[in-house]
Amino acid sequence: MKQHYFWKTACIIRETTQSVTVIFDTQGDVFSFKAGQFVNLTLSINGESVTRSYSLSSAPEHDAHPAITVKAVQAGIMSNYILTHAEEIQEWEIDGPHGFFHVTTETENCKWVVLIGGGSGITPLYSILKQLLLTSSTNILLVDSNKNEGDVIFANALAYMQQVFSDRLKIVQVFTGSAETPTARWSEIIQGRLSRIRLKKIIRQNLGDEYLNAQYFVCGPDGLLQLATEVISGLEIPQHQFYQEYFQPKAEEITVSLPQEMQEVLIHHREQSNLLEVEPGKTILETALQDHVRVPYSCKNGTCGICVAKLLDGDVYMRQNYVLPNDRVNEGYILLCQSHPLNNNVTVETTGFV
Ligand code: FES
Repeated sequence: MKQHYFWKTACIIRETTQSVTVIFDTQGDVFSFKAGQFVNLTLSINGESVTRSYSLSSAPEHDAHPAITVKAVQAGIMSNYILTHAEEIQEWEIDGPHGFFHVTTETENCKWVVLIGGGSGITPLYSILKQLLLTSSTNILLVDSNKNEGDVIFANALAYMQQVFSDRLKIVQVFTGSAETPTARWSEIIQGRLSRIRLKKIIRQNLGDEYLNAQYFVCGPDGLLQLATEVISGLEIPQHQFYQEYFQPKAEEITVSLPQEMQEVLIHHREQSNLLEVEPGKTILETALQDHVRVPYSCKNGTCGICVAKLLDGDVYMRQNYVLPNDRVNEGYILLCQSHPLNNNVTVETTGFV
């Protein structure tokens, strides 16, 4: 199935002062995806090819064209470039869709689905929300955390949906700043930081005993992910009912003792083979890039999955993995940006997203 596309712009929507939606003209390409998935976008910025992952904010059954929504981030080369130059970009190189953070048949059959997001974490949740409102009769609780109401992406659309689907959609807005007085168009408004107790109470109050059977989708910064994970684990929700999408997780500590000597790694990439000399503490990706082996990568923190490869021989230590499901890991797939060779006979082959 085709996964690589070159699209034009159909429309640009300025959502807030810090976020923009790009609606793509797919040039007749058929593009199938599931609500909640992401694409990898490559642009040439100041003469350099840059690739980043963005969640689709459109929903398959709701929107005629695929779209991404991008928010400015500190030191975010691509996001900040899109925010300032969106109207001038002539062509969007897209690879995807990717990701396991998406609606399934079980989601559509749930009595309740809980969506918890912060900042631009609303993007895949907005896609999921639109899809579920159209294709299911599930009840939805959305908890959306932002600094102020002016920062809420899709604010008018969300408020409209809440009005139209008031019998099955509850939106709780959390405002951590104090610059604005919020409007009274949300089911509930919380001013100040969301605490564990508060989140637990919101879930229990809205879902009653159904909280145990609900599916939970959480997307946002690390702090929110951690808080939501603690609450959901504390409620003893089975793991398979809980989906998380990370933006920038904290680097996890290395928990094994890595070899103190340089290790050789044979890497097969695009019909070429290179022998890398990986220094202690370095990842295979770092060494490959240093040696000008142009393997694909984006996040370098184990969340996008672009640097996936198959381990053909030897052993590696994978520091963190937020994207490959366990069955793929058991089949020998690894993330090069997180992998340190543990011995001298490691052989890997890049595979593209699995
Ligand atoms: S570069 Fe994103 S997971 Fe490795």
